[in-house]
Amino acid sequence: MSESPEPGATTGVARPPLQLPTYVWEPTTDFLAARYGLPRESIVRFDVNTSPLAPDLRDVLVGAFDPPLCEYPPSDYAPLVAAAADAYGVATDEILPTAGADEALDLTARAYLREGLVGVGAVPTYAMYRIVTEQRGASFVSVPRLSRDEGFALDLPVLAEAARTAQLIWLCEPNNPTGSAEPPARIAELLSMLATGAADDGREAPIVVVDEAYAEFVGRSVLPLRSFYPRLVVIRTLSKAHALAGARVGFAIARAETLGPILAYRAPASVGTVSAALATAALRRPELAAANVARVASERWRLAQALEGLGWSPYPSQANFVLFRFGDPAVAAATAEALLRVGLVPRTFGADHPLADCLRLTVRSVEENDRLISAAREMSA
Ligand SMILES: Cc1ncc(COP(=O)(O)O)c(C=O)c1O
Repeated sequence: MSESPEPGATTGVARPPLQLPTYVWEPTTDFLAARYGLPRESIVRFDVNTSPLAPDLRDVLVGAFDPPLCEYPPSDYAPLVAAAADAYGVATDEILPTAGADEALDLTARAYLREGLVGVGAVPTYAMYRIVTEQRGASFVSVPRLSRDEGFALDLPVLAEAARTAQLIWLCEPNNPTGSAEPPARIAELLSMLATGAADDGREAPIVVVDEAYAEFVGRSVLPLRSFYPRLVVIRTLSKAHALAGARVGFAIARAETLGPILAYRAPASVGTVSAALATAALRRPELAAANVARVASERWRLAQALEGLGWSPYPSQANFVLFRFGDPAVAAATAEALLRVGLVPRTFGADHPLADCLRLTVRSVEENDRLISAAREMSA
């Protein structure tokens, strides 16, 4: 769905005018159903990169919670932290549970950015990096990724140069919304360039945040790189491969000395007991996420092939969504509107966005993807 310039225009939720940059929330399913005169159940969200089916964790929900729901969760979230440490292969003092990856991004910005400082992002990328940077009063410097034909790869020399006057670099691996992923060796190369540049200038190396919200889909992580680049912060989430977006659980993962300042900004219990229990169980049952990842891999291929056969141009994706190019923003907008009329919600990009001629579509269930393919077929008939 498109980013609206009017707060509340697409969600139906009135929000006070703010001076700060804010995230424009996706329109709610109820709002879209009313707007397009469709039954609520017929709306399918292809715009938010979630999964079509939650994992079966009913046993967790019907069991007793410890501590019970009348108490606060333990502030150290020990069982959740232990499960995450095992799942991600790090020490328990390197894990900070947060209310989704978004809270981890916000806390990292709070810890390491303020007025007069600079954050750098490789664009196009996830909108929150700019938002949390500017909310701190810091400046956001955009470094364009290489061209579409070059796979939206990171422009390492330009990033390294921009980093000379920055305190924090935001990276997204695989990248939302392009679906592209950088080989870990290139991230390692960038970190070396940053460390060398900082040593040459006699300043501290910048914090590098690698948002790995979609890492399970590509099956690798840059976490091992924290041993030679201590100022690396990796962000993970249960919202994507684990199919628990509604639980709101994520993590900031970093060496203890880098995590400390981030931890200082967390509210005492931002992750609820029910969410922590669900996330702990999901991390202890990796076969659930693995099945989701396998489903995405086969459906991603099938969806991209089918739509390519109808003249849509997919970019290669390593995540649970595919970016399609239409070559003309007007064609992308008309396609989005035609999809919305039948209850299929794509992610669109504003007219001034570098991907204005594209739509991003989440890989959903076989049946839901079939609805999308049929709608596209009807449009091309
Ligand atoms: C790159 C990226 N990071 C973070 C998030 C937010 O994740 P969470 O639901 O864990 O807050 C998203 C959600 O789409 C995302 O695409």
